[in-house]
Amino acid sequence: MTASLAVQAAAEIARHAPGLTPRVGIILGSGLGGIADRAEGAVAIPYTELPGFPVPSVEGHAGRLVLGRLGGQPVAVMQGRVHAYEGAGFGALRTAIHALKAAGCDILFLTCAAGSLRLEVGPGRIVTIADHINMLGTNPLVGPNDSAVGPRFPSLQDAWDPALRRRLAVVSDRLGIPFLEGVYAAYLGPSFETPAEVRMLRLLGAEAVGMSTVPECIVARHCGLRVAGCAVITNLGVGLSDGPVNHEHTLAAASAAAADLERLLTGFLNDLDTPDEGHP
Ligand code: HPA
Repeated sequence: MTASLAVQAAAEIARHAPGLTPRVGIILGSGLGGIADRAEGAVAIPYTELPGFPVPSVEGHAGRLVLGRLGGQPVAVMQGRVHAYEGAGFGALRTAIHALKAAGCDILFLTCAAGSLRLEVGPGRIVTIADHINMLGTNPLVGPNDSAVGPRFPSLQDAWDPALRRRLAVVSDRLGIPFLEGVYAAYLGPSFETPAEVRMLRLLGAEAVGMSTVPECIVARHCGLRVAGCAVITNLGVGLSDGPVNHEHTLAAASAAAADLERLLTGFLNDLDTPDEGHP
């Protein structure tokens, strides 16, 4: 069922943007949606016109797919995502990611706003995701497996593509954006963490915490997409500072940091056709 909806959605994408075969799918997190407006020759398709796509309910998530070119590459940008805490299940997320693959993408670039679990990493910093801890208590692959899409027990070793991470390091250095890699912990939400939970996540070895991104990574790896991603730090984790931790603050802080993320993402896309010392 998911597969056929994804094929239908991919056909709609091709119909709206003839001649543009997206190579990189990009999912923009809270407060980061403006990056899609930079796409050249952009065609925007509301999710409501894409069979099986999610209809996000959260402020800061527009709910449209933008086809165009960023950093010279044909991209399909999801402006708005669904979160596990919305309670609608993972079907729409699976359909959307499978549709991006069916439309031509072989890389999925994930972005999100996140809280920092390290005092020295403050708001505005970009953390390239090196690995994740799934604290959602569920997994988007729960349920029958479609072996035409991927294996029942997919590996998540190197889920966050090492070669793509190297490229992000190189581009960051070139652009003068401090490079930092870390582990992203996905927390279900929608309540923010307690100070005790933040202390626990620090002990577990996570650098950032948020309420998204991990399901997308798992679905994408399952169907064979390469995955890269960056978390934009909008606040120190609850209890690590006296600063506010709320959704309005997240949106404002993410918009302020979006310029660096946009430069990094554009540079990354620009470089994709450059050989990477023998690594694809
Ligand atoms: N916790 C969870 N999700 C978030 C945070 C946070 O501190 N900041 C932005 N998204």
